Amino acid sequence: MQLPSLDSILPFEPGILSVALLLSCVAVFVYRWKPARYLPAQSSVRDTSISEKNKLKEREWGEWPPVTFSYPPVTPTSNPVNLKPIPYRPFRWGAYHVTMGIRDMPWDEWIETDYQMQSYYYIKKHRIATRGTNVVQILPDRPGVVKSASQGAIELVHELADYLSKRYPDAFTVSRNASGDISSVAIIPVNAKLDIPPALATQGSLKLRQVSIEEAEHAMKVSALLVQDDLALMVEGTDGRYYFQGGAICVPGFWRMRDKIGLPLEDIHIQGHVPQYETRLHNSMDRYFKRMPVEKPIIRNNYFFQVIPPEDIRHPLNAAAQSSAKPIIENDSTVDPEELAWSTTTNGSEETFNHGHPITPDVRPTVAAENLRLRTERQTLRRLPLSGAIVFGIRTYLFPVEELAKEPGIPARMASAMRSWPEDVRKYKGNGLYEKVMLEYLDKAAKEQLEVGGEELMKDTGKGYPF
Ligand code: HEM
Ligand SMILES: *[C@@H]1O[C@H](CO)[C@@H](O)[C@H](O)[C@H]1NC(C)=O
Ligand SMILES: *[C@@H]1O[C@H](CO)[C@@H](O)[C@H](O)[C@H]1NC(C)=O
Ligand SMILES: *[C@@H]1O[C@H](CO)[C@@H](O)[C@H](O)[C@H]1NC(C)=O
Repeated sequence: MQLPSLDSILPFEPGILSVALLLSCVAVFVYRWKPARYLPAQSSVRDTSISEKNKLKEREWGEWPPVTFSYPPVTPTSNPVNLKPIPYRPFRWGAYHVTMGIRDMPWDEWIETDYQMQSYYYIKKHRIATRGTNVVQILPDRPGVVKSASQGAIELVHELADYLSKRYPDAFTVSRNASGDISSVAIIPVNAKLDIPPALATQGSLKLRQVSIEEAEHAMKVSALLVQDDLALMVEGTDGRYYFQGGAICVPGFWRMRDKIGLPLEDIHIQGHVPQYETRLHNSMDRYFKRMPVEKPIIRNNYFFQVIPPEDIRHPLNAAAQSSAKPIIENDSTVDPEELAWSTTTNGSEETFNHGHPITPDVRPTVAAENLRLRTERQTLRRLPLSGAIVFGIRTYLFPVEELAKEPGIPARMASAMRSWPEDVRKYKGNGLYEKVMLEYLDKAAKEQLEVGGEELMKDTGKGYPF
């Protein structure tokens, strides 16, 4: 849990500041005695007015009064087709600690995209076409429990289209109507133009329109195709918990949207046997979500290892994960030879998947350095101002272990991190499958680096977490 920083309250005048602090103390008091109240973070209010803030403070769980907010100016960056995937290496020397591990998200960096955007686009398009509501779904209202994510889905696609056209102007362009609302978005590198449903509210208005599930699911599909991320929409329930009410989960690797949709966050994590969730994460996550302000998006990173099909049975001709070429024959293994979407080689068939039960023990896959991948996620969380839904973006990167082993200091650090996993973490990360091959390979690579590069490399912490 991060504390509100001082600079975030500086825009207030000192007099107001002390009143605000006093009010917050009262708010804390109220919060302790009446848990069904909202405790706002004492963050700065970019556009949200004091009266809007008060409305947020007084709201009942599950009610979100739309607030005014405009996305801070976005700095344009290069054409994604010239950008490499960002080399996240989010493992540390020595001890492994289970924590929320969150940090502030710079507004410019909501969505990261790179030259692999085309292959992700084809993979997602194929997934949507072949799996339908198993990969894109919006749940309806559950009266008395939690609302639909349908409004959030419309708000999200408008926010994404607007942001992407400003951040990556060479790859995304939008068409607007006379009122300035976005009506379609073009993804230039794949030569696609996607229509998007009308905005949730016209520019400058806080009056939200009704949205059907069909429209919302269409919006969600467009969002899925625009970015490399998977997207989950979390909606606050009348019990103050956050429910996974909709999303586009096209490339999750080793969990299925159908098993998790509709569940509150705690059930998702408990059911997934996330190590130390109940002891180390549950309370801080619960508090975090309830208080999460519109103005403070965050990021966290994680990592796993994945065994993919051996080289001779991958489809090199159509190595979609490596190239921008659209495969000629479209099936799961030609579109997605590296199993970004689903880890069949590691976890067995997606259809018969049974959590935590590895594939039949006698069909253990061939494991060699060549077919090992670092699977690492960059997760972002942002609360949308109009619907109040929280968007969880999960951007997955797959890096070949053979490539990582060439980077100075990396093999030694990776081996050290693996050796420091507590038992429950080892099990969760499926270590049994690859540990022996991986550690032998990394140790050998580290030893070679030591001979050439010397001791310092063996303590290398890179450019600091998560690199
Ligand atoms: C600050 C917010 C969150 C924290 C700190 C958190 C923490 C974690 C941790 C520690 C894991 C184990 C893998 C890893 O190290 O990442 C995990 C897995 C997972 N989390 Fe979260 N999580 C957060 C938000 C969410 C949200 C919003 C969703 C919504 C869908 C979600 C869904 C999942 C799923 C599906 C898994 C995989 C579980 C499995 O193995 O079946 N998490 N989470
Ligand atoms: C522009 O689109 C919005 C919905 O996105 C709609 O409410 C508004 O009336 C449209 N304006 C014009 C001038 O067509
Ligand atoms: C996909 O197509 C390729 C090329 O025709 C074929 O070799 C492979 O068996 C097919 N895979 C699946 C899962 O259908
Ligand atoms: C995936 O497979 C590995 C290795 O077989 C196993 O240890 C792990 O529990 C599986 N993951 C899930 C989520 O079932």
